[in-house]
Amino acid sequence: MDSNHCISRRKLLRSTCGFVGAAALVSIGGSLSAFAEAGPMPAPEDTGLPVVGDTFIFGDGQNKGKVVVVEDLVIGGPPAVAQAKDAASGTVRESDHSTVLLLRLPPESVPPELKESAAQGVLAYSAMCTHLGCIVSDWAKDEKLFVCPCHEAKFDPMQEGKVISGPASRALPVLPLKVDDGKLVVADVFTGPVGPKKG
Ligand code: FES
Repeated sequence: MDSNHCISRRKLLRSTCGFVGAAALVSIGGSLSAFAEAGPMPAPEDTGLPVVGDTFIFGDGQNKGKVVVVEDLVIGGPPAVAQAKDAASGTVRESDHSTVLLLRLPPESVPPELKESAAQGVLAYSAMCTHLGCIVSDWAKDEKLFVCPCHEAKFDPMQEGKVISGPASRALPVLPLKVDDGKLVVADVFTGPVGPKKG
């Protein structure tokens, strides 16, 4: 992997890579430092991936650091960048592999092939770009596509994270959700590999 062209979520905290480009492009990365502020350091055994039962915390805005509930997400986007959190221990999973994009749709707008993965109209996608691993932190609001700020790969949340343009060759995997007492909760593992292909 060419690390000169890739930023992790931690590096994004210190980078201008999560830019706001054209007028229709919205940065959704926001103040990701909230992740670092919102919980204790990860347990050494933490593999980095979300596990069933995890909740999420917001990374920015008026709810930053708060556990994500459906009502706090804006219908139709922009998506929220959030981090998985071990519900039992309160540990925030700091790995980029546990960073997700949460997009709330009107429930009737969720495509049939995504209905099982959605919870009350909310879809979760890995935020780790499948090209070189940057955090996909921009939102093309007119096209309603996720945009990676590093090399402008675009992914369609209505087509199971399919690559629409740019250098990425694989879709962003979906993280199935459920709702428990209003909170979004991980219902299953990612539907595919997270981040760039190894090797
Ligand atoms: Fe290259 Fe995302 S890391 S397009």
